[in-house]
Amino acid sequence: MSTKSSRIPEFYKLSVEERLSIVRKYADLTDEEVETLRSGRLSYDIADRMIENVVGLMAMPFAIATNFLINGRDYLIPMVIEEPSVVAAASNGARMARVKGGFHASSTEPIMIGQIQVVRPPNPYKARLELLQRKDEILDLANSRDPVLVGLGGGAKDLRVKVLETFRGSMVIVELLVDCRDAAGMNAVNTMAEAVAPLVERIAGGRVRLRIVSNLASYRLARAWAIFDKDILGGEDAIEGILDAYAFAVADPYRCATHNKGIMNGVIAVALATGNDHRAIEAGAHAYAAMDGRYKPLTTWDKTPDGDLIGTIELPLAVGVVGGATRSHPTARIALKILGVKTARELAEVMASVGLAQNLAALRALATEGIQRGHMKLHARNIAIAAGATGDLIDEVARRMVEEGVIRIDRAKEILSELTGMGRETG
Ligand code: MEV
Repeated sequence: MSTKSSRIPEFYKLSVEERLSIVRKYADLTDEEVETLRSGRLSYDIADRMIENVVGLMAMPFAIATNFLINGRDYLIPMVIEEPSVVAAASNGARMARVKGGFHASSTEPIMIGQIQVVRPPNPYKARLELLQRKDEILDLANSRDPVLVGLGGGAKDLRVKVLETFRGSMVIVELLVDCRDAAGMNAVNTMAEAVAPLVERIAGGRVRLRIVSNLASYRLARAWAIFDKDILGGEDAIEGILDAYAFAVADPYRCATHNKGIMNGVIAVALATGNDHRAIEAGAHAYAAMDGRYKPLTTWDKTPDGDLIGTIELPLAVGVVGGATRSHPTARIALKILGVKTARELAEVMASVGLAQNLAALRALATEGIQRGHMKLHARNIAIAAGATGDLIDEVARRMVEEGVIRIDRAKEILSELTGMGRETG
C-alpha cells in the first residue's frame, strides 16, 4: 500500500513544471517518461499503426486530479479533457470525501458479453434448449481461441440464450459471458463470438448474422460510495440543495442526461488518459442508466442519520490495463504508472470514484453558487497568467477581475501594472 499522499494543497497554483516534478517523484517517472509527458509525443509510426489514413497528431491537455483516497489508498488521477473546471471539480470532490474516509469502491468480475444472432431459426425455443444443452462444447470451442486468456484464469465462462420477437421475425440470441481479466476484452470476445458461430448455426438451424461484443457490460460493474461531511459541504442547506438536484434528475430525463454527463466528464477523462475506449464506456453507461426502462441517474444521494451526505455510484466499466492503446500509446502507459493500478478492476474502481467526486462537485456548485463563478475564477487566472502575472499576483489579478466582472487581457495588464508597475512590459 502506498504511503504517499495525494492531498497536495494548492497544486493548481504551481507552474506546469513544478507540478510535473511532484508527479515525477510521486510516480517514480524516468527522464524519458517526463519528456514524453512534456511533449505529448506520439510517433508517426505508432499513430499510423493505431488507425488508418493518418496525416497528423492532435494534442490534448493531460492534467492530474489530486486528493483521491480510495479503499484507503492515495491516487493521483491522470485526466485528459478539453473542458475547464472538470479537473478542479474532481479534486475538490475528492478533498471533501477524504474527511470521512474517502471512497469505498468495489467491482464485479470483468465479464463481457458476446452476442451471436441467429435469424430465422426453424424452431427458436427448441434451438434455445439445444444450445443450452451443448453449452460446454460451445464454451470449449470459444476458449480454444484464446489459451492466453484462459491461462490467466479468464475466458468464456457461461452461456445465455434468449429468443427475441422482432419485426423481422423470431431470432435466437446466444450470449457468451467472457471473463476478460485485465483487458477491456473487445477483441477477445469478438474472436470467440466469430469462432463459435458455425457451431451455433449447426445447432440452432437458421442463419448466424452478427457476432459482436455488447457495450452494455451489465456484468462488469464498478461501484463506489463516500460520505461527505455536512460542514465541509457548506451546511444543511447545501445538502438539501444537492438532494433537490438529485430528485430533479430522478424525475426528469432532460436533467438526468446532464447529471450523468457530469459524471462521465470525470470517467471519460480518465479513460482518455489511459487509452481506453471511451465510446464503449459512454454507450454502456447510458444504456445501463436506462436498463429499468426509464433513464436514471448513475449515482444516488441521501442523508445519513448524522446529517451528512452519502453518495453511491454504479456503472458498467469495460476498461483494461493491458492491450490496445493502453499499451501502444506511450502517454497511456505513463498514466497507468501514475495511477499505479495493477488490475482492470482497480482501474474501474478508481474511475467510478472519480465519477462520484465529479457529480458531487457539480451538484454542490449548481445547488449553491452556480457553476459560472468557478468557471470565471479559472478563466480569470488563465487571463492573468497570459497577461504576465506570476506567483501570488495571479490570484490577486484574477480576484480583482472577477470582482469587477471584467475578465479581459487588457484589464489584466492594467491591474498588473497597478500592482507592480511592470504589467505592460511583462504582458
Ligand atoms: C458540465 O460539463 C457538467 C455539468 O453540467 C454537470 C451537471 O449539470 O450536473 C455541470
